[in-house]
Amino acid sequence: MLEGKKIAIIGAGNMAEALVAGLLKQGAVDPGRLVATDVDSQRLAHFRTTFGVQVGRDNQKAAQASDIILLAVKPQVIDEVLRGLKVSPDFSQLIVTVAAGISIATIMAGLSPHVRVVRAMPNTASVVLEGATALAGGPGVTEEQMQIAQVMFEAVGHVVVVKESHLDAVTGLSGGGVAYVYTFIEALADGGVKMGLSRSHAQLLAAQTVLGAAKMVRETNEHPGVLKDRVASPGGATMAGLHQLEQGRLRGTVIGAVESATIRSRVLGQQACEVRPSSSATSSVKHAASKR
Ligand SMILES: NC(=O)c1ccc[n+]([C@@H]2O[C@H](COP(=O)([O-])OP(=O)(O)OC[C@H]3O[C@@H](n4cnc5c(N)ncnc54)[C@H](OP(=O)(O)O)[C@@H]3O)[C@@H](O)[C@H]2O)c1
Repeated sequence: MLEGKKIAIIGAGNMAEALVAGLLKQGAVDPGRLVATDVDSQRLAHFRTTFGVQVGRDNQKAAQASDIILLAVKPQVIDEVLRGLKVSPDFSQLIVTVAAGISIATIMAGLSPHVRVVRAMPNTASVVLEGATALAGGPGVTEEQMQIAQVMFEAVGHVVVVKESHLDAVTGLSGGGVAYVYTFIEALADGGVKMGLSRSHAQLLAAQTVLGAAKMVRETNEHPGVLKDRVASPGGATMAGLHQLEQGRLRGTVIGAVESATIRSRVLGQQACEVRPSSSATSSVKHAASKR
């Protein structure tokens, strides 16, 4: 799907690094077909020496010479980056954006109502190729373009396709979810230490237990409740532990965490999209977006 395609990566930061590492590891792209741009020379040197990709400081030049443009800068600088891209009327590149909270309509308003945009919400586990990414396609995005975006993120984990309006819930679940799970692992290990295990053993056992349980859910496709019942024998130790978790309202608390993070993500996204745009494209973009 990506063969022969040139990809410009605007913003050679952490997310871009995870994606480039995954794409190259999977052999999905040739390093010679990637160009990364950044304002930070150290990041560019790191990308050149680590991945053998081309690097540069000129976003527009890199974008114009590519088929796919990955916007991987922080949301705070997206306006400036969009202004610098100076899209021409015959611009046909696919834009893939990972900028949290920046809507497809905002990207189109900043570039042109004709650009094709796929918005992605990955998570930091992409670094170890176990990312969870949701994609949403903007107006006019073809099935082939969606597949291209899907292949890019499947190089670093699993992908689902959702409506753009669901991306805040994705942020609340898998975006922030890694932090909730770190907290759970820490607590599980603390429990082991409390009961006499060494910290190193407790942490390894806790992390491996979460990894193994997650793999069981993904690979068997069974409902987690069914898998849980298989571990909890009548009158046994696991049931005593589960009872304690219920008394601490674990499930209600986790559901509440996803809800709170989703609401917060929505607010942050609205704030990020409020500062906008001088482009005359705005009204047509709003029209296109309202039809989605
Ligand atoms: N990390 C994640 O797990 C994750 C998950 C989901 C979504 N995202 C999204 O991914 C995007 C990147 O996040 P990140 O964690 O990779 O951030 P990051 O490490 O700060 O990377 C962004 C890079 O862009 C550079 N940059 C700033 N202005 C630029 C410009 N005008 N042109 C080109 N490059 C420029 C930054 O340089 P300076 O540092 O010198 O400014 C930095 O090296 C964000 O929008 C974030 O919302 C990240």
